[in-house]
Amino acid sequence: MKLFLDTANIDEIRRGAELGVVSGVTTNPSLAAKEGIGGSAGYRAAVQEIADIIDGPISVEVVSADAAGMIAEGRDIAEWIPNPWVKIPSTEEGFKAISVLARDGIQVNQTLVFSVNQALLGANAGSTVVSPFVGRLDDIGQDGMELVRDMVAVYREQSVETLVMAASIRGARHCVAAAAAGAHIATVPYNVLTQMIKHPLTDAGLARFLQDWQQASGG
Ligand code: G3P
Repeated sequence: MKLFLDTANIDEIRRGAELGVVSGVTTNPSLAAKEGIGGSAGYRAAVQEIADIIDGPISVEVVSADAAGMIAEGRDIAEWIPNPWVKIPSTEEGFKAISVLARDGIQVNQTLVFSVNQALLGANAGSTVVSPFVGRLDDIGQDGMELVRDMVAVYREQSVETLVMAASIRGARHCVAAAAAGAHIATVPYNVLTQMIKHPLTDAGLARFLQDWQQASGG
């Protein structure tokens, strides 16, 4: 399972890139707003900076609600960076836009996916990747990871090539569950990436190794 960073924070992206484990980045209007990024020009500049750091797909979300607007934005975004994935929501207008953009050869990350049916529609429309929002389903008392499991199983059964990217990841346990469910990608906030590294026994073990080494070396 590949790991993407789910953030528009340049510092976090730089730090994640240094680890050598980040294959892409996902952004959305909320994540951009959190970093004080606004307007198409500002979003474009930020996305270009991200693409200079990460050599992989960068997801950039449209902000139109109608298909014509999404298509125009998607075609524009496709020119911003070498490897854009245009994020389009799972709405009626969204599916119209996905099918047009996919026919143009533009990579689409179908977002706000909350059902297997939306994923099936996306596969037919030509989505490159679908993003089930795990945490937001958990938030309303449903099992978000069950959706990932079902989606992967149905895609496998139907030999669908569209990728499944677990999104709205809230903790390190979600990463293990997404990998076990067969997700191709998990997009994670930076704090989850660092949670994945941490284990108290690693820290304790390292401290002991260094202490023993110093004692043996007469330090
Ligand atoms: O990639 C989608 C993700 O950013 C949504 O996460 O935590 O806002 O539900 P969250």
